Amino acid sequence: MTDVAPLPPVVLPPWAVVTERRAAHIARVVTLIDAWARAMALPAAEGAAWHDAARWHDALRDAPEEILRSLAGMDGGPPELLHGPAAAARLRADGESRSDVLDAIRWHTVGHIGWARTGQALYMADFLEPGRPFAREQRAYLARQVPHDFDGTFREAVRARVASAMNEGKALAPETAELWNSVR
Ligand SMILES: [Fe+2]
Repeated sequence: MTDVAPLPPVVLPPWAVVTERRAAHIARVVTLIDAWARAMALPAAEGAAWHDAARWHDALRDAPEEILRSLAGMDGGPPELLHGPAAAARLRADGESRSDVLDAIRWHTVGHIGWARTGQALYMADFLEPGRPFAREQRAYLARQVPHDFDGTFREAVRARVASAMNEGKALAPETAELWNSVR
């Protein structure tokens, strides 16, 4: 769980469109979520769901907007909200059927109150991975807490992540506002 650990190879689907920088982010998210799964001694199936959600969540993050819109079936809305729904749709078309994995990926950018732990873990790992430049100490602290207090740390991570989005002047998606209200 340190930022100097060598990153494991992350296997992306053949249709992934990611820059090298993005691939490094994905690898850090996978490393963190796998460490939590081990520390929490998760059943193998849930650990595999967390791992797969992490390695696929940004698989289309750098794909062209028209492709994302058509996969996601979303004509409107901000472009940065398309890659989760698009990747979930593409995975489903490939035969992926685990709803916790698909929901984790579909909503990872905005959050979702109906999530299983897979979605909550991905939301936290995406935000708490050590490569992000801001609030390093606070995020590293939260990352260490996850295996000890999963639910409490999820609430803290939502608060911190939404607060940082609001500080940047970003409008909250309805799903984000709903999640925020559920942890206040
Ligand atoms: Fe991500």
